[in-house]
Amino acid sequence: MKNLKHLFLFLFLCLNAVAQQGGMWLPNLLKGDRETEMKNLGMKLTAEQIYSVNKSSLKDAVPQFDGGCTAEVISNKGLILTNHHCGFDAIQNHSTVEHDYLRDGFWAYKMEDELANPDMVVTFVVRIEDVTSKVLEGTTGLTEADKQKKIQSTIAELTKSLPKEAWQDNLIKTFYDGNQYIRFVTETFKDIRLVGAPPSSIGKFGSDTDNWVWPRHTGDFSIFRIYADKNNRPATYSKDNVPYTPKYFFPISIKGVKENDFTMVMGYPGRTQEYLPSYAVEQLVNTLNPAKIEVRDAALKVQDRFMRKDQAIKIQYASKYASIANYWKKWIGETKGLKKSNAIVEKQKFEAALTAKINAAGKQSEYGQLLSDFEKNYSAIRDYALARDLFTEVVLRNTELLQTGYKLYQLEQLYTNKGEQAFTDRKNTLHKGIDAFYKDYNNEVDKNVFEQLIAIYAQRLPKAFLPSTLENLNATQMAQDIYSTSALTNLEAFRKMLEGDTATVLAKMNQDKGYQLVKSIADAYLQKVAPKFDELNLKNMATQRTYMKAIVELSPKSARIFPDANSTLRVTYGKVKGYKPTDAVYYEPFTTLDGVMEKYVPGDYEFDVPQKLIELHQQKNYGRYANTQGKMPVAFIATNHTTGGNSGSPALDAEGNLIGCNFDRVWEGTMSDVFYSPEICRNIMVDARYILFIIDKFANAQNLINELKIISPKKKK
Ligand code: ARG
Ligand code: ASP
Repeated sequence: MKNLKHLFLFLFLCLNAVAQQGGMWLPNLLKGDRETEMKNLGMKLTAEQIYSVNKSSLKDAVPQFDGGCTAEVISNKGLILTNHHCGFDAIQNHSTVEHDYLRDGFWAYKMEDELANPDMVVTFVVRIEDVTSKVLEGTTGLTEADKQKKIQSTIAELTKSLPKEAWQDNLIKTFYDGNQYIRFVTETFKDIRLVGAPPSSIGKFGSDTDNWVWPRHTGDFSIFRIYADKNNRPATYSKDNVPYTPKYFFPISIKGVKENDFTMVMGYPGRTQEYLPSYAVEQLVNTLNPAKIEVRDAALKVQDRFMRKDQAIKIQYASKYASIANYWKKWIGETKGLKKSNAIVEKQKFEAALTAKINAAGKQSEYGQLLSDFEKNYSAIRDYALARDLFTEVVLRNTELLQTGYKLYQLEQLYTNKGEQAFTDRKNTLHKGIDAFYKDYNNEVDKNVFEQLIAIYAQRLPKAFLPSTLENLNATQMAQDIYSTSALTNLEAFRKMLEGDTATVLAKMNQDKGYQLVKSIADAYLQKVAPKFDELNLKNMATQRTYMKAIVELSPKSARIFPDANSTLRVTYGKVKGYKPTDAVYYEPFTTLDGVMEKYVPGDYEFDVPQKLIELHQQKNYGRYANTQGKMPVAFIATNHTTGGNSGSPALDAEGNLIGCNFDRVWEGTMSDVFYSPEICRNIMVDARYILFIIDKFANAQNLINELKIISPKKKK
């Protein structure tokens, strides 16, 4: 009996140890429970070393990279590390058929050779503070719509007025669905140069087949450098700028980690929705994800067909293809994972338990309606949400001609609503991005994409929302008509169309068949879908806020209720750990270069391996970077809770040394944005030793190796 009791206690502790993981926490709020938990998992740092207001701390070495990714500073001359897929656009922009840096890689062996990227930015967080009461001031008693308006204007006002240095910015973001507001003082650097990138056969090894999959063998990293003005402050590109001197940079450890070792990741996770009700998850699984997947599936098939037979098209579409494919595949994995983990049923159980707590606390009048409100609203919004996703995917996202046409549509709207001056201003900014757009545009590819996508749009859109132009659609004929005549199909014609006074430009636009179609689709969407969607969505957001409040209020103080991701700086932590993807299968947490060679398919567009790397593998020429078994580590996984935006994030060991660069999650755990499970959700990181090995042995960029602070294991005496 006593033994049984011990066994139960033991099991309970084990379960708790697993269940404790997950969560993306604000770095300024780690003191207390989080710090204790991290120390129990093996961390040797203090919360103050991670985030400090007065001293330099780890957070000073973790900027957001170009809006969507994360990077980490790794030298005192502003060198930063991020993913290959985060630098991909920049690498692609510098590439031509003759100098194909995507294919061959790029290395600057001297600072003069580093390549400038005009629009790239890197943003550091200087300090973080709670401004909830300031933001919510004067909102009690207002209707929901007025309340949101007031909040938006207060945020805009505070963003300007809260004290900061001239070169800094204020950023105010909501946490817990509108229950908390936090201010970030930031510094954005604008002269960021490309320093190094491996060939895609390393940096993108396994490409889309291996994307979101473990075991993984991708050397997904690239290197940039931050430049600042003479005072070490942000400045736009100038040849007089100097390498940035950071407040902190990460030493890189080549000691290696073992399964169950502590690890943490800092970065800028973009968006999670961990507290959605069951009704929303059901809609995601059965209606929204399938529609988005169908659209992207069709677009990808067309692009792939063209890219395979033409190298120039391959370069033009590589980046676009990769980004369409990325979420296409993620939604497939997410849908599967949500089904397999019974997320809807689990959410229902959670809701039943919450209802019981609401009743027990006598809070029926405040919280008693939440779930029935959700049920009503999610059922009402379904068709509108579907229409919105289809519009976004077909028009705004995946058909290039419609995408450009929509910019002109907004231009005309601006004229109608705001007049001549607004029209002219926008027209002038439109010119800017358009060269880059047409550089990577191929009319045949897009025509074929259009033909597929417009047919899906006409078929899947709820009939009540269909514009008359798409009734009885002949997609082939329509594609032919538009793509052989529209000015949206090439740069010269596009520019010509925008020449002349406002009336002339508008007249030309409205005679264009491509524009006419965009206009009819957009009009129908904006009249029949958007207003009702916004109205219902606002209701759902208000309900979600109260729901979140109820969850926080009715949970014990010790509950780990982490805020959803919102592109702000977070810390997530856990252990290096394998997992069981299916019955009878266990995935170990480390991969090696041997596995790269096992996957090698000569000449294949996804699994080719550079000759030099094959030789280094044959000679086992791994220098000081091999693991204790004499193998070259490539990637590893852990229980850190990450999401899109965490790409490029530093993976740190118990001492805070860099041990890897985060770049993905495992297939079985891609549902973690909606339903995190510590059993199967894992983040994937490139091992820092592989990164150093590629820089040192493969690229022979000793200039870079010499800049780094590398921590080696102590030699055994
Ligand atoms: N899945 C990873 C993330 O969401 C990596 C994507 C880049 N690779 C690719 N093959 N598209 O961004
Ligand atoms: N690959 C993602 C990114 O680009 C990371 C993830 O979704 O796990 O941020």
